[in-house]
Amino acid sequence: MPATLVIGCQWGDEGKAKIVDYLARDAEYVVRFQGGANAGHTVVVDGTRFAFHLVPAGILYPHATCILAGGMVIDPLALSSELDMLTEKRVDFQGRILISEQAHVVMPYHIRMDRGMEARRGASSIGTTGRGITPAYMDKVGRRGVRMGDFLRPRASFEKLIADRVRENNRAMKALGLPAVPVADTVHALSEVARKIAPFITDTRLVLWSALDRNKRVLCEGAQGTLLDVDHGTYPYVTSSSSSAGGAVTGAGLPPSAIDRVVGIYKAYCTRVGNGPFPTEEKGKTGDLLRKIGNEYGTTTGRPRRCGWFDAVAGRTAARLNGITEIALTKLDVLDPFSAIKVCTGYRSGKKRLHTVPISLETLTRCRPEYEEREGWNRSVARDTELPDKAEAYVARIESLLDCRVSLISMGPERLAVIDRTHKRRPATISP
Ligand code: IMP
Repeated sequence: MPATLVIGCQWGDEGKAKIVDYLARDAEYVVRFQGGANAGHTVVVDGTRFAFHLVPAGILYPHATCILAGGMVIDPLALSSELDMLTEKRVDFQGRILISEQAHVVMPYHIRMDRGMEARRGASSIGTTGRGITPAYMDKVGRRGVRMGDFLRPRASFEKLIADRVRENNRAMKALGLPAVPVADTVHALSEVARKIAPFITDTRLVLWSALDRNKRVLCEGAQGTLLDVDHGTYPYVTSSSSSAGGAVTGAGLPPSAIDRVVGIYKAYCTRVGNGPFPTEEKGKTGDLLRKIGNEYGTTTGRPRRCGWFDAVAGRTAARLNGITEIALTKLDVLDPFSAIKVCTGYRSGKKRLHTVPISLETLTRCRPEYEEREGWNRSVARDTELPDKAEAYVARIESLLDCRVSLISMGPERLAVIDRTHKRRPATISP
């Protein structure tokens, strides 16, 4: 059976975890394929809140096996804490978490370097999450990284590798004016954690290929969003991984032909955390209201997110790039109290009207959004079994602007606050 791919189509934080959680009901394998603990996924089940950074949210279904695939960069200490959180909340994950031997390790010095490099950028900082993501990917492409498979080495060989890497990096840190990472402490901490997570490490490609051969349902979960993709995002204000659909192929080790369903996740408005262009940003009261109602604060860093209206130019670009086959529209309820709702339908750049996001940062920074204004619905979308007409019309407008149908609509953090338009189904348990 072909795989399904879930991809964020804005600047991350589109509410992917909620949709992954919904789709994972039917999945036997849930796969993360890029990024690391910079991601933050929150799922609320029966009033219990779970915040994930590395483990796919699908772990909350006892039938699902979760894979941390080769394109990821994994902070083993953060992973260990996440496993402890799952144990504390009585989620049995034994045998259900597999980590790729190919995934790269985020080392303690990567975190220090990430923060140090950001501080040196001053006013032109990217606003990274400080989780060591860029330095880890730099070491990966520089062919000097440590991989999760190295955790399977005999202890002496592993400890020598870690000590060598720490010493090498301490020289690089010194050149950056950063304090050295203690060698013995790092070796000790990583040896301890290696013992804990070694049983989870394997060649996850073989697991996935076998799953496809056996007609198992595979769900791939993108982290961050398309406009943060290192190639296709608003470079250099991007993350360091391939967070668009192509990343799933290399990151998970899946052939492109294995994916036949691409669900693009869009929030009913836009947010961005960190720096970089954001054409529809609302800096005044509207932005504050969206942030307040949508509780737009980063799961990973707690930073307030920048907020603005739905951007169909960015949306269309992401739809084309990812080849989305359907849309999941999230947080529609956040727009309930607005009497007027704007949608950006084009960018004005001098005399030109642009329909896709330009690659040049200079051009993008100069673009002005062109809006159409729509009447709001001014009542709770989660109240009745049908959407209010004006909310329905808003959804239809997004469908026409992105040329793709909206199959799922989510209206709140609870697991069941979803309308499934494919099956014309709305869970009965949405509170009145
Ligand atoms: P990094 O991934 O920590 O290097 O951060 C690079 C940029 O991506 C920064 O603007 C971050 O705020 C942003 N970013 C990274 N991960 C996420 C995410 O999960 N959601 C939203 N933005 C993110």
